[in-house]
Amino acid sequence: MRLLVTGGAGFIGSAFIRLALREDWASRLVNLDKLTYAGNLENIASVEADPRYRFVHGDILDAPLLGSLFGEEKFDAVVHFAAESHVDRSILGPAAFVETNVRGTFQLLEAARAARTARFLLVSTDEVYGSIPEPHDADETDPLNPSSPYSASKAGADLLALSYFTTFGTPVLVTRASNNYGPFQFPEKLIPLMISNALEDRPLPIYGDGLQVRDWLHADDHCRALNAVLLHGSPGEIYNVGGSRALPNREVVELILDTLGKPRSLMTPVTDRPGHDRRYAITTEKLQKSTGWQAQIPFEQGLRDTINWYRANTEWTARVKSGEYRSYYERNYSER
Ligand code: NAD
Ligand code: TYD
Repeated sequence: MRLLVTGGAGFIGSAFIRLALREDWASRLVNLDKLTYAGNLENIASVEADPRYRFVHGDILDAPLLGSLFGEEKFDAVVHFAAESHVDRSILGPAAFVETNVRGTFQLLEAARAARTARFLLVSTDEVYGSIPEPHDADETDPLNPSSPYSASKAGADLLALSYFTTFGTPVLVTRASNNYGPFQFPEKLIPLMISNALEDRPLPIYGDGLQVRDWLHADDHCRALNAVLLHGSPGEIYNVGGSRALPNREVVELILDTLGKPRSLMTPVTDRPGHDRRYAITTEKLQKSTGWQAQIPFEQGLRDTINWYRANTEWTARVKSGEYRSYYERNYSER
């Protein structure tokens, strides 16, 4: 397949590119990325020299650029990761979320429609369902009830994409994954932030009571699910992708501290996030039945490997934490 990957210099997009080229999912792979604070060419340095691979530095909002790329490259499929992806940043500044996640997805859908691309996979999130009270697990027919500007912008993108299937017959597929973790994740999200602060013996900020529940999915398991949906999914359908490993935040953070041999007293309760979703929980039955996909990486093993990766790559973390990260950290945490 000739693939266009958007946002491939970020956390999950780069995992997808490394796997796709290693496991021959693509004969051609073009990575279109704007290189925002979250985009990092170091994440994909290992594939730079691959003759199947091309990097294009650009914005998904740039319609003329999209037009010429689709014309030149004749893609069989688009895998659309590019997004503003962090809830806390969407609270500090929602504008970029509406621009990239909603308007950017619109531009990409227009380009795929004009080029009659055979598959358009929108990488979405279980956060579009909002907080799910126990004991229910959301399936693909659950109503959308997003709480944050991030999840609302993703829900907007989902609806727009599905409308392109219904109205124009654009072969759209939507996946909704739970919280991802793994190497190369920007240290603004829970797991890499906690590992990185613990390694530096700095306080670990726990929002509210820390009993919010997230379902953890290794990024490589997520990417294998995306490939399975590309190959076996039906256009117009939505597929949840969960790790089936729901844990309260406190337990995750305790596991990190125990693995690193650091004291639990580093955990520091701070003011809760506004609009904080209490629990995310989804069923993945539809994906399993339709494609045979199963998560392969048990959370304890994946977390241990991720901790070891951050331990071995302190220079990567130091580089991404210089500059912009400092002012973000100050803005997000100093008032809590
Ligand atoms: P990330 O923030 O690490 O990476 C996003 C990438 O998109 C960056 O490389 C950035 O430079 C690029 N980008 C941003 N705006 C762009 C634009 N206008 N044009 C081109 N490129 C642009 O994000 P991630 O965690 O890898 O998430 C990838 C996708 O998966 C997102 O769509 C996100 O909503 C979805 N998702 C993430 C999770 C998670 O736990 N991280 C879970 C479910 C779904
Ligand atoms: P996060 O990684 O931001 O993902 P999301 O909000 O999209 O689920 O946060 C995961 C959980 O961890 C969420 O309940 C908020 C909590 N959290 C903290 O308690 N402290 C922190 O510093 C961060 C970043 C998150």
